[in-house]
Amino acid sequence: MTADDGGPLSGVVLLAVLTRNLESACAPAGGLRTFLSPAEVSSAGRFRRAEDRLDYAASHVLFRLLAARWLGLPPLDAAGLGVTRYCIGCGSSQHGKPAVAGVSLSLSRSHGAVMAAAGPAGAPVGADIELVPDGLFNGFDDFVAAPGERGQLRSKGIPGRLRLWVAKEAVLKAAGLGLAVEPSAVHLTPAGGTLLLADCPGRPEVHGLTVSPVPAPAGYRAAVSAGSGLPPDQLALSDVFGSGRLP
Ligand SMILES: CC(C)(COP(=O)(O)OP(=O)(O)OC[C@H]1O[C@@H](n2cnc3c(N)ncnc32)[C@H](O)[C@@H]1OP(=O)(O)O)[C@@H](O)C(=O)NCCC(=O)NCCS
Repeated sequence: MTADDGGPLSGVVLLAVLTRNLESACAPAGGLRTFLSPAEVSSAGRFRRAEDRLDYAASHVLFRLLAARWLGLPPLDAAGLGVTRYCIGCGSSQHGKPAVAGVSLSLSRSHGAVMAAAGPAGAPVGADIELVPDGLFNGFDDFVAAPGERGQLRSKGIPGRLRLWVAKEAVLKAAGLGLAVEPSAVHLTPAGGTLLLADCPGRPEVHGLTVSPVPAPAGYRAAVSAGSGLPPDQLALSDVFGSGRLP
């Protein structure tokens, strides 16, 4: 099945876009809130800064649109999809990794950009996008890199360090652990092409996950982790809003 015929997908896919571009694409359908649940509209309103409200709303819109696209549903069905959550740390259904029946999903947002990834139900998927900042916090290398990875970082600038950061965070999000586990506990080894194989002592959820850098808007770095051992396919906004998919 290709991404163009509107039918269900079968592999791991991702979409990473500037928030303002997603907002524009949603305008003909009535704006971002057309694709959100009432609870998400309310949650967006809790952010103090307008730009954070917008990024939150856009990230959940992209998550829902990608879920609908993966399932072969029209975009206007996105708002009605049931989203559940599960926290691997405490078992809560109020926070943690979000899920939609029939598809595995992950979302991320960072200062004006949003991304989501989707794949087969039951197979873990994790996405992370970050704006490359002007500076990094003290101790970044020790927090993010495993001891065997720190040497390679010495010759890297901030974008190279962010590339490792998003890869680790994508793995930890695929595993459902998030930053409850320090990224330096995750080891990444080359697995062919741009793929890296992840492992983390004492964390069987991480074992066997792969991760690869994926294209992101200029000035951002992004990665997707999955259990498939294959690099993910990149979609465009036209794949979720494309010909005839919106009235
Ligand atoms: C997941 C996490 C790393 C994301 O951090 P971030 O870089 O600031 O944010 P991103 O935009 O990339 O991702 C945020 C999204 O990750 C998802 N997420 C949250 N927890 C997650 C988890 N444990 N696993 C996978 N995804 C998770 C959510 O969809 C969240 O957005 P939402 O709350 O609006 O739905 C961070 O929130 C985290 O570590 N959370 C878990 C902490 C934890 O386990 N606490 C113990 C609670 S008992």
